[in-house]
Amino acid sequence: MKILIVGSGGREHAIAMCAAKSPKADKIYCAPGNAGIGQIAECVPIGAMEFDKLAAFAKEKEIDLTIIGMDDPLVGGIVDVFEAEGLSVFGPRKNAAILEGSKVFAKDLMKKYQIPTAAYETFDNADAALAYLETADFPIVLKADGLALGKGVLICNSLEEAQNGVRSIMCDKQFGAAGNQIVIEEFMTGREVSVLSYVDGKTIKTMTSAQDHKRAQDGDKGLNTGGMGTFSPSPFYTEEVDAFCQKYIYQATVDAMAAEGREFKGIIFFGLMLTPKGPRVLEYNARFGDPEAQVVLPRMKNDMIDVMEACIDQKLDKIDLAFEKNAAVCVVLASDGYPVKYEKGFEIKGLENFEDKDGYYCFHAGTKRSEDGRFVTNGGRVLGVTAKGSDLKQARENAYAAAEWVEFENKYMRHDIGKAIDEAQ
Ligand code: AMP
Ligand code: GLY
Repeated sequence: MKILIVGSGGREHAIAMCAAKSPKADKIYCAPGNAGIGQIAECVPIGAMEFDKLAAFAKEKEIDLTIIGMDDPLVGGIVDVFEAEGLSVFGPRKNAAILEGSKVFAKDLMKKYQIPTAAYETFDNADAALAYLETADFPIVLKADGLALGKGVLICNSLEEAQNGVRSIMCDKQFGAAGNQIVIEEFMTGREVSVLSYVDGKTIKTMTSAQDHKRAQDGDKGLNTGGMGTFSPSPFYTEEVDAFCQKYIYQATVDAMAAEGREFKGIIFFGLMLTPKGPRVLEYNARFGDPEAQVVLPRMKNDMIDVMEACIDQKLDKIDLAFEKNAAVCVVLASDGYPVKYEKGFEIKGLENFEDKDGYYCFHAGTKRSEDGRFVTNGGRVLGVTAKGSDLKQARENAYAAAEWVEFENKYMRHDIGKAIDEAQ
C-alpha cells in the first residue's frame, strides 16, 4: 500500500512510525512532514490546508490510504474533498469534525443527549455574555467557540477578569472568528485524563488512557502550551471510571453524532475531568492528541493500518484492540522561551543514540534539515522523547535518561512529567 500522512508534528511522526511497522505499507509520504519523519517517509512540500493540491498528489501517486493527523484540515473539510475524488481517507468529514471545531456544537450535543459535562450557557453577543457574568459564580470558564490553537479557554477568577476575557474574545477578536460565539461554563476540579478512540460511525473502541501536561513550567505553572509531556496509562483511570465512561460517554457520543446525521469515522479524543461528582467531558477532539499519540501508539499491539481500514469499512466490531501491559512517558524537549518567544536554527546532536534502542523513541516536532544536511531546531516544541518501562516509574526514569541523549543550545524541558503517578501509589 501507498500511504499519505497529512501533518508535521510529533503526532504525525508517531503515526508514520506505526504505519511503517505495518507489513501492508510499501511506501509512505508525509505532507509537509519534518526532518524526523523524513527518515521513514518521503516528505512532500504541500501544506496541510492545500486540499486540492493534496488530493491531486494522492491521485497522481495512487495513494491507497490518506491519514489526516491535524485538526485544522479536518475541521476545514479535507476528508470531503478526498472522498469526492474517490480517495480512501481516515478521519471525520467536515460535518462530524465540528465535534472539535465548535465548542457550542459539542456542548449542545452533550446537553441534548445527556452526556455528562459542565453546566454552561452560550452567547453570540458580548452584551448578553457580560450581563450573564453579573449573576455568575467564580471561578468561571470562557471558551471561544472555534479552533484557537488550544489557547481559546480562559479560566477567570473574578468578575473583572471574566469581563475582560469576554471583551478580548468577542469584541477585540483575540482569536479571530473563533470568538464569534462563546461558551461560558461551570469551573470543575479534578484530574484530567485523555482517552483516544477509534470510531467507524457505529462502533467505538477506546485506546489506553493518557495524561497530558499542558503548562510550560514544573508544578503546572506558566502558560498553556501544546503539551510538554504525557504518560500512559493514567493510574487514575480506574476500571470503575472506565465502566462509567463506557456506559454514559463513549458510545453515547457516537450514537448522538449518528442520530444527528453526522456519522463520525476516525479518532475521537475525549478530554475528561474526573470530578468529585464523577467523570465529565471537558472537550472533544477529532484526531489523535499531541503528545498523547507519542505514548499511546507505541504501546498499541495492533497493525494501525488494519484498524484504520476497519473504521473506513465500518468493520471495527471485528477488531480486538490490544495494548501492551507496560507504560510509556513522553518528555517534550522545547526551545527555551516557548510558547512565547524563542530562537531556532540550533543544531541537534545525539539523535543517533536512539538507533536500535528498543522501547525508546525520539519523535520530531519542530525540526528541519539545514542546507548541509544537519538536524536543526525549527519550532517551539522540538522533540518528544518517549520511553517505555514495565511500569510508570520505570518509564519515567527511562524517558528522563533518554532526554539527556540529545542536546541543542536552548533545550528546555519540564522535570516533573508523570510526577502525579507517585500520588496514585
Ligand atoms: P479544553 O480546550 O476545553 O480542553 O480546555 C483546556 C483546559 O482548560 C483543560 O485541559 C482544562 O485544564 C481547562 N478547563 C477547560 N474547561 C474547564 C472547566 N469547565 N473547569 C475547569 N477547567 C477547565
Ligand atoms: N495534547 C492535547 C491535544 O492534542 O489537544
